[in-house]
Amino acid sequence: MAREPRGQQLSGFREDVIAGLSLPRKSLPPKYFYDAAGSRLFERICRLREYYLTRAELALTRAHIAAIARFAGSRGTLIEYGSGASMKSRLLIRALRPATYIAVDISRDALQAAARRLAREFPRLDIVPVAGDFSRPLTLPVKGRRGGCAVYFPGSTIGNLTPEEAQAFLAMTRGQAGRMLVGVDLKKDANVLHAAYNDAQGVTAAFNLNLLRRINRELGGDFDLRRFAHYAFYNPGPGRIEMHLVSRARQTVDVGAHRFAFDAGESIHTENSYKYSIAEFRGLAAKAGFKGTKVWTDRRGLFSLHGLVAV
Ligand code: AVJ
Repeated sequence: MAREPRGQQLSGFREDVIAGLSLPRKSLPPKYFYDAAGSRLFERICRLREYYLTRAELALTRAHIAAIARFAGSRGTLIEYGSGASMKSRLLIRALRPATYIAVDISRDALQAAARRLAREFPRLDIVPVAGDFSRPLTLPVKGRRGGCAVYFPGSTIGNLTPEEAQAFLAMTRGQAGRMLVGVDLKKDANVLHAAYNDAQGVTAAFNLNLLRRINRELGGDFDLRRFAHYAFYNPGPGRIEMHLVSRARQTVDVGAHRFAFDAGESIHTENSYKYSIAEFRGLAAKAGFKGTKVWTDRRGLFSLHGLVAV
């Protein structure tokens, strides 16, 4: 698989964790949720009754697949960011019949498993897995015209970025493809959002806490998971769900040679998940040089898939 040897990835993880825990307001980047255990927990989240996002996006993609395929164009190159288990991708691949499918994901494990499955299902498809971090500029092995390329960025993964970062990401992909399909979670009743990130079974809590377990295992940390609590809420000002891990007591935690002090009630901010109205997201896309020409939603108006054209 191309780029980022394991060693480099690990040192990036260590540096990011040390830097994030050294801030006056502690934070950790959400991209590190997805080790093997984290990817499995995320798959479980997607099946939760409260987590409407995956089902809504799958339903709207099924309902509008012909129009979506017409918009994206067929037989070219399909580039997918944050492909994970590539559930929705197979729907799109079946409809678009691209010659090449480039899958970019931070999780090597999820990527490898998905590539193997897709290769069995689509033996003639040229599959190019790229293990990498798309929160930074990334060069892809794209052959041929930009016009023959479409970028697919489903799952509201774009919600993990701030609006400024999202704009920069769109501007970067504008050099790779003339058309984009972006899955974006819609603004809605805060109680519905709250339930989706505070499920009754505690799977989201386990997903959040798994980040500390990963730090313990990979970076020699001694986080006591029982002394941190999952806390997620909708912040209406910026329009985002925030996930935090809140220290249940005054304590110190070692990560390798570094020691970090926590007050009781102090939090580590682990994730933002931005929600956009259709008009808000089109405004953001416009600032990155894209015109929002199409948008599809599910029947209940929970989730949106934007069709963007580079202008
Ligand atoms: C994969 C970023 C879209 O923000 O809803 C799920 C991750 N976090 N539950 C989201 C997540 C908590 C998810 N994204």
